[in-house]
Amino acid sequence: MPLKGDRIRLPNRAASHTASAVRICTPAKINLILRVLDRRSDGYHNLWSLMQTVALEDELRFQVRADSTELRLKCDVASLPTDRRNLVWRAAALVLDRAGLQVGLDIEITKRIPLAAGLGGGSSDAAATIVALNHLLRLGWSGGEMAQVGAALGSDVPFFFFAPSAIVRGRGEDVAAVMVTGARWVVLVHPGFPIETRWAYDRLAATREHVRPLSEQHSRFASQASLAWDDVIPLMENDFEQPLVPVYDAIRKMKARLLSEGAETALLSGSGATVFGIFRDEDSAVRAQTSVGQVRGWRAYAGRAGTASLSCQEESSDPFRVC
Ligand code: C5P
Repeated sequence: MPLKGDRIRLPNRAASHTASAVRICTPAKINLILRVLDRRSDGYHNLWSLMQTVALEDELRFQVRADSTELRLKCDVASLPTDRRNLVWRAAALVLDRAGLQVGLDIEITKRIPLAAGLGGGSSDAAATIVALNHLLRLGWSGGEMAQVGAALGSDVPFFFFAPSAIVRGRGEDVAAVMVTGARWVVLVHPGFPIETRWAYDRLAATREHVRPLSEQHSRFASQASLAWDDVIPLMENDFEQPLVPVYDAIRKMKARLLSEGAETALLSGSGATVFGIFRDEDSAVRAQTSVGQVRGWRAYAGRAGTASLSCQEESSDPFRVC
């Protein structure tokens, strides 16, 4: 990680390259396996998760401001704060601080990933912010260095630097990329209400009698460079289902509905409330999405599993393009 240097002001650095704006598309994640292990002394839980991206993406645009060193954030979702409570704002401030730069930025967020949904939308946006600023400000940080900065922002952030698929351990900072071979489609179903992550962890800790150790089959996954979908599907599970299903019957209903629509398996993602189903091909996924999306209050999305990763595109005078 570069050490903090003397604070410099734009245009010293930005003037040395052409692009003063970048746009970046950043995917949602699902947890194909999520085991929540022991609580740590810092209050967080150790995790063991097989995570993968899904092609449902937010879009962010960053533009260097010539007139001020202020961070200005705009978002198309009115309920999302646009000040330092927003993870993108905090990620941008952290990058500038670590780089020792004072740079004004205009940031625009177009949200497509549902909020507080177990899909890592906020974390993905934070990771995208680090990637975009690393590029825009020519910081030269490696993926590992960016992941280290991201770990300070949230447990799901480091994963996105190892996307599309990775095994995530510890509090989320220990990430190893893995290949998942074979193609699958994912249908995400969101029931229209959020679940707060902290509350979900507290409920899980309060309702279980003991921590089930990691299975041998899951541990074996960690030593393999690639995993086949056919081997992963029978071993998919999420520790949050047991404490959350009795509170939110919609989780059980979404799973049942996806299975009746032909999903090979269906599971809660993260701490919910999104449930996803795995499908063999695009046609059956799109059919299921259309059918499930008709349920009142539910929103459904279909996308390929594990293809999307962070991609940054420079803009010079080009108009803002939609992903
Ligand atoms: O990392 P993030 O900010 O998303 O976590 C939100 C909350 O979820 C934490 O404050 C903590 O209470 C809980 N959590 C946990 N163990 C983790 C991740 C999150 O207990 N590994």
